[in-house]
Amino acid sequence: MRKPFVAGNWKMNTDSQSSIRLADEIAARTMETAGDKAKIAVIPPFVYLPAVVKALGSSNIAVGAQDVYYEKNGAFTGEISVSMLKDAGCSYVLCGHSERRHIIGETDELINKKVTAAILGGVLPILCVGELFEQRKAGQTAEVVTGQMKKGFSGLSEEKASAVTVAGLTATPEQAQEVHAMIRKLVGQMYNWTLAEQMCIMYGGSAKPDNAAALMAQPDVDGLLVGGASLKAADFVGIIEASTD
Ligand code: PGA
Repeated sequence: MRKPFVAGNWKMNTDSQSSIRLADEIAARTMETAGDKAKIAVIPPFVYLPAVVKALGSSNIAVGAQDVYYEKNGAFTGEISVSMLKDAGCSYVLCGHSERRHIIGETDELINKKVTAAILGGVLPILCVGELFEQRKAGQTAEVVTGQMKKGFSGLSEEKASAVTVAGLTATPEQAQEVHAMIRKLVGQMYNWTLAEQMCIMYGGSAKPDNAAALMAQPDVDGLLVGGASLKAADFVGIIEASTD
């Protein structure tokens, strides 16, 4: 049984006060859900990670980072290593978010190095895959997502691959289901069906309290990666509740 996983990606939002307030409020409102009915994570900007970890205290809410660099340490100005994330209290890290792929220009090769380094360093990667709107319109979804999956998992043994959560990016619940089923089948082909059945495949893209239940009702949608709606505690908690009903 795959436990629902709801993660709030705060992107480049919040400041020190609002990040602590948001963490406090989410922790207070999810005391019964977190850890029991669902896996919950918040993914703040790097600089607020320690403060958010502290604010979440002993709640069962995990903390993730939005990105990581694959080298262990050294002359990589501006980058953050896996061990730094671990040291700051992170359990998860997003790898290859669409905004990093398309705004920053990250390649599948770089993302694969990040996924691999995260697993080796003991931080669980959330590998984001998904086509651009133009690629969907051109009927290239399967081709694009298959390429990103194969390159993202490149070189990973079955054991290492089992540490990965996949986050897809699509529009309606039906489209999400279609792509997620394809992703699960692909994991079955790349590894085996046991791993495919265990793998958590999240949906990312405009999840809201009022569409969360319909998305989560799809058999292959196991979780939600929430952007905008994760910045309001009431909305984020509403999504968690709708996902676990
Ligand atoms: P959104 O973002 O919910 O604001 O669409 C999701 C994501 O990109 O992580």
